[in-house]
Amino acid sequence: MTSTKEETFFIIKPDAIEKGYVGEILSIAEKHGLHIKALKVVPPSTELLSLHYFELIKKPFFNEVLAHMTRTSLVVGVFEGENAVSKWRTLLGHTDPSKAEAGTIRAKYGDAEKFENAAHGSASIEEAKREIALWFPSSSDMINIANYVGPN
Ligand code: CDP
Ligand code: MG
Repeated sequence: MTSTKEETFFIIKPDAIEKGYVGEILSIAEKHGLHIKALKVVPPSTELLSLHYFELIKKPFFNEVLAHMTRTSLVVGVFEGENAVSKWRTLLGHTDPSKAEAGTIRAKYGDAEKFENAAHGSASIEEAKREIALWFPSSSDMINIANYVGPN
């Protein structure tokens, strides 16, 4: 069978950090077979976020995105696992927390009124590669697990 092991990039956003959901969100990923390949705290950086969200720069809500995303440092990382990109996007749910499917991370931890949606996930394998290279330029920041067993 063809291996579909992939890497995806994630951010735990300031709203989820402020509410104390970092551990819970990482735990959901781990319970679904996504293991943490990289993890770090990055101080607020308009420059890095403008590169990350370059497709949104001309959108009317971009300043709000920047204000939200620079409110605290960010928890950023890489998950690895089978179909990691789509799996993580499914766990996140819809971009708009008011439309996020029940039980998803954005439905549970997001704030629909403020359009703050708790966490980011790459939308495609190509986007994941670009974002991982942007946030983790050094491959020595990655954990290589030779024999991933997963939780019991
Ligand atoms: O994060 P996702 O890939 O689901 O959505 P996006 O279209 O790539 O937008 C990136 C981020 O911009 C979203 O996660 C929201 O935080 C923000 N956004 C917003 O504030 N208002 C919108 N109408 C759309 C996106
Ligand atoms: Mg996106």
